[in-house]
Amino acid sequence: MPATILIADDHESSLAGLQALLQLEGYQVVSARDGETAFSEFERVKPDLLLLDVDMPGMRGTEICRRIKSNPNTMLVPIVLITGLTAMEDRLLGIEVGADDFLNKPVRHEQLIARVRSLLRLKAFTDELERAEAVLYALARSIEGKDHYTGGHCERLADLSAQLGERMGLPAEEIKALRRAGVVHDIGKVAVPDSILLKPSRLTPREQKIIRQHPVVGEQICAPLKSFQLVLPIIRHHHEKMDGSGYPDGLKGERIPLTARILQIVDVFDALSTARPYKPALSLEKSLSVMKKEVTKGWWDPTVYAIFEELIESRERPQTKALAASAH
Ligand SMILES: [Fe+2]
Repeated sequence: MPATILIADDHESSLAGLQALLQLEGYQVVSARDGETAFSEFERVKPDLLLLDVDMPGMRGTEICRRIKSNPNTMLVPIVLITGLTAMEDRLLGIEVGADDFLNKPVRHEQLIARVRSLLRLKAFTDELERAEAVLYALARSIEGKDHYTGGHCERLADLSAQLGERMGLPAEEIKALRRAGVVHDIGKVAVPDSILLKPSRLTPREQKIIRQHPVVGEQICAPLKSFQLVLPIIRHHHEKMDGSGYPDGLKGERIPLTARILQIVDVFDALSTARPYKPALSLEKSLSVMKKEVTKGWWDPTVYAIFEELIESRERPQTKALAASAH
């Protein structure tokens, strides 16, 4: 499939020139003569690259760029802004709104083709990464789907652990890792036979050994993805315990990565507060009191747990709190 390029320019002759040149190179070209049309064509066609004249009637090229780059779903689409040679302010604004490259007017053809080729190579690479991530997510959901009692577990874990990470002031990339780990943390269960995974009765020591390999297998599955490097320690260590009695490495205390300590608290809470084939759902209060006992036993991080409890209470009882506050 040839790449699709959207060109927006209000000058008929330069638009036609660019269009002919890119078509000659084998690209599919969609054109627009003003900003509004360019933006609606962008949404309709979903091009692989945009060439935008900065000065256009209606919406300027920099404004279109700002909108596309501030949307997480479209921010990776490369944008080249075409500016006048002396338009320094436009360039600075272009950098601020996230433009990937600039071309001066009049556009030199060999320069244009070189930039287009290199940006499209980069786009193909990021598309590939996104596809790999999508495959991992689909695999993780198919494992979750085996057991309908835990439906929605991945989404709840992704949301709640990201919220807990935010409350603890973690940097944005670790919060992103927590969100991803929420979905893929149990992906290693793909290697566990259903007869063990779905067994309603107690597991034998041999079966336990097999299920306990899922954090290591999960880490191996996700390891080739560079964008998942911060996710790997969460997958590997989400079943460790503070006193060293967990698995797979028996890590103790702060040697367990903080992000793994965060995810495991949310994971345990979700397991307690939702129904499973072998047990009914516990109430919120009961789930928290079980976990509190486990913190005392030395299983979970007391600091992370205290912040988690605050988070759950603020989520579950916002109206009660508001009423109590207004009564005083
Ligand atoms: Fe797990």
